[in-house]
Order: sequence, then structure tokens, then C-alpha cells
Amino acid sequence: MTYTPQLRELLTRVEATRNKRLQGYFPRLMAAEKEEVLRKFHPDYIEASMRPLQVGVNTGDRVPHELADLLEARSRLENVRLDLEQLQYDVDVLVVGGGGAGAAAALLAQEQGANVLLLTKLRFGDANTVMAQGGIQVADKANDSPAVHYLDVIGGGHFSNVPELVRALTMDAPAALRWLEDLGAMFSKEDDGTMKSIHGGGTSRKRMHFARDYSGAEIMRTLRDEVRNRSLRVVEFCAVVELLLDEGGRAAGAVLYNMETGEYEIARAKTVILATGGSGRLHYQGFPTTNHYGATGDGLIIGYRAGARLAFMDTIQYHPTGAAFPPQILGLLITEKVRGLGAEPVNIDGEQFVHPLETRDVESSAIIREIKDRGKGIVTETGMVGVWLDSPMIEIIHGPGTIERELPAMVRQFNRFGVDIVRDPMLVYPALHYQNGGLLIEENGRTNIENLYVAGECAGGIHGRNRLMGNSLLDIVVFGCRAGRDAGARAAGVRVGKLHLEHVTAYHRQLEANGVLTAGRVAPLLLPRYTHRSR
Ligand code: FUM
Repeated sequence: MTYTPQLRELLTRVEATRNKRLQGYFPRLMAAEKEEVLRKFHPDYIEASMRPLQVGVNTGDRVPHELADLLEARSRLENVRLDLEQLQYDVDVLVVGGGGAGAAAALLAQEQGANVLLLTKLRFGDANTVMAQGGIQVADKANDSPAVHYLDVIGGGHFSNVPELVRALTMDAPAALRWLEDLGAMFSKEDDGTMKSIHGGGTSRKRMHFARDYSGAEIMRTLRDEVRNRSLRVVEFCAVVELLLDEGGRAAGAVLYNMETGEYEIARAKTVILATGGSGRLHYQGFPTTNHYGATGDGLIIGYRAGARLAFMDTIQYHPTGAAFPPQILGLLITEKVRGLGAEPVNIDGEQFVHPLETRDVESSAIIREIKDRGKGIVTETGMVGVWLDSPMIEIIHGPGTIERELPAMVRQFNRFGVDIVRDPMLVYPALHYQNGGLLIEENGRTNIENLYVAGECAGGIHGRNRLMGNSLLDIVVFGCRAGRDAGARAAGVRVGKLHLEHVTAYHRQLEANGVLTAGRVAPLLLPRYTHRSR
């Protein structure tokens, strides 16, 4: 579906302002202006979009309704008879999740001599990692340092991040990148062999390293190959529906749901690493999402039910540029790299209204303001509203051929629908992209439950109230490795006691005692629901 004549007519206004925009400079917002646009237009600030939890260790903390509905739901195992001594798997380290964090954790755990099992509810590698486009932040240039990176992360997170986690993230970054390269990841390079790097929103140095516009796919390819090459055991189409504890209250395995046979299975483990990813498929506030099909927040649910603490789950990241047109790819990620290369957000009159590289929360809020408050959005024939992202500016700034070279996946994605992003802008609107929070971890991925680790998007505290671009591909590697290394080493000294699910029974009792109406809801969801069921 190519642009309609009406949209094409509007595009002439964008073309008309290009020269002026090229010569001018759109200033960044001052701190007070940022605060104001966030407060008035960021979806997190909509009071009615969240509610305080009525059960569990975070009782009283506000989270989005869609997540609260699942945290305040009943276990899938409520009416299931299980023999917890009938073990299908008995391992040292159980890794739950087949994205980048899970793969990195499994590799490092195995390096400690541990017997590792990696479970994934879809295929190995089907996760948000593989969909990440823009890059990975690493301070490895002469004008940069982990300390400067640290300051950018903390500033981007509104000074709320857990400092020790940011230190781990930024200090480990150069080694993490070298590790990926040593394993065979191919990043984009200059002719002299140095890494290419550009800015991302909120970065004070050009430290975004990338593999054209499929950085996550390249990283996932590398990690998955390595897991396969080392003959690590991977079981696909197997979801985790509850954690098992032992009588010492330690994590000691999980109840699995075999999605092919429909049977429940038991895995005993000395340490457990949750790397189940994010929750974009809960479509907070009805937003379209950039997320993978499996991003239903399962780790948050089972971790929380077992007593693990959540942090920052009242802060959700809306990526400024999800596709608003064509409707077939609504919400599809249009990487921040497009803006990093010079594309500008422009309104219906062809006016730029925000600097292209504000932090994501500010950039998204400014787009929402332009549409909702100033009435300067562009409406498509399906009723979707967006603003232009003027990609042809990239060729004007850097010369012909740049878009095809730097954004080949994006070019192809839009070409399928007759939109040529070299010649014409894209229409964009913020899309649900990332949960800034998650289960609270410390530097080695440990949680408040002994022998339970969390890594990747399921973990909370690293990014505070807003993550910067490129720090997610970094965090899955840094904290995947840290959790895997620690869990693998620790497993050697663990003796697992008798397995139980008493925390689930206790959770149900607490729901009832607090009068929480679960209305037939069960969690974790495992797969998103796009149909209304009659029951
Ligand atoms: O815009 C992007 O390419 C997304 C990157 C990220 O979320 O880190």
C-alpha cells in the first residue's frame, strides 16, 4: 500500500522545508521543558493507566493495569495434579529464555563447568534480541570512556538507576563487545578496520556500534551458533509456568509446559536464571508494539509469585518511531539509527518540532504533543495519526547510497509496501518498545531469592526510568554473562532440598485475603491474545 494522493500532496510541504532545515539547527530542550513535556504527554503520566498492586512484595506499588491483571491472576497450575519428584530434567543451571541474555548466560554458566539446560517457549533465538536494529553502546573511542557512558546512562534514566548496575554495564561494555567479535559477530567498520559508531538519543559521544540495521540479528546469530557449537542442551517450545522453591526458600527449578504435547514437566536445578524478556505484547494502553510475539512478561509473573521484588514497573518505554503506515506493519520498529543518521521528525506543515535525538521518553512525548495538543499530525485513511520522519535528509547530508548501505533491512521492509524511504519520508507514531523496569537484580544478576537470577529485559534497576538506545543489546550481554558466570559457579556448592509450590498456594491465599477479584484470569500468559474468547 503506497502513499495515497492525499498523503503525497502533504509530502510536498516536507520537501519545501528541506533546505531551510538543512541550514538551521533545532535546539535540544532545556531540563524544565523536558519535564513539562513528559508530565503532560508521556503515557506513563496518565494517572488512570496504572494501579497499585494488592498482593506480593510490591504491594502498594503502581504498575500498568495490563500487568497488574496478570500479577493479580491465579496460577495455571491451580487445578493440576503434579508429582514434583517425577523429574524430566535435573541440572545445575536452568536458563529460561532463548534470546540474547539467555544464550549469553548459558554459555558462561557452562564455562564454569555447570550442566546447563536452556528452555525457550518458541524457537531458540525467537525473541526481542533478534529484532533489535540500531546498535550496542560501548565506550571504546579515544574521546570516550566508561565514565562518560555511565553519566549518559544515569542522565537518561533521570538519575534513578541503581548506580552499581550502571557501573557494571558501562565498565564491562568494551570487553562485552570484544567477546562478541571474538565469537564471530560482524559489526560495521570503516575502511581502516575501526568500528563505525554514531550517536543515539541522549548520548554525548558517538558510541553506538552496529551491524548495519540488523545489529540484534547479528548478535543473536553469533550467540546461538556458539550455543549450538558447544552442544549445550536447548529445549524449544517449552514454557515455564511456575518456579519451584525448596524448603530453604531457594529457587530450585521450575514447572514447565511442553507446548507440543500439552503436558507439564518438572525441572530441578541448583540455580535458575530468568531471561524471559519483556512485556510489549501486553500492549499497555492499547499501544502498538515493536516487540516479539513472545514478549508477554512471563518471567515477571513467575518471579513475583515466588517472592522476587519488582522495580520501576511504573515506567514503560515508548519508542518514538514505530511505523504508523502502512497499516500492515503498524508499530514496527523504525530504528533510532534513522534519526542518528540525520532524519528529522516533521509535522503536517513540514516543520521540524523537536531535536531528533532527545531521549526516547522526551522525543515520544514531543511527538504526542505535536499531534494531540497542536493538531499537527497526519491522518491516514485508516484513521491512524503520525508525523513524518524525513529519511531523505540522510541522503542529502551523507550522499546518495547511504540509506541502502546503512539501513538495508528498513529499505526492504518499506519497499514491500511500495514506500521508497530513500525518496519519501516514513509516517511514525510512538510504539510500546521496552519495560524500563523488571525484577530487581544486583550486579551479578542475583535477586532477593537465593539461587534465582535474572538477566536481560526481565531485569530491573539498570536503566532507571528510561533506557537509552543501544543499552539493551549491551545489557543482555553484560548481565547475561554476569548471571551465567555467577550462577554456574554457585551451583557447584548448592544442595537442593525438597521441591515445593507452597509459594503459589500462599499467593492465592493472599489474593483471597485481600479481596482481589481475579475474574478467571490465569498467568503467565505465554502467548498474546488477539481474539476475544467467549468464555
Ligand atoms: O531504535 C532502535 O534501533 C532500538 C534500539 C534499542 O532499543 O536499543
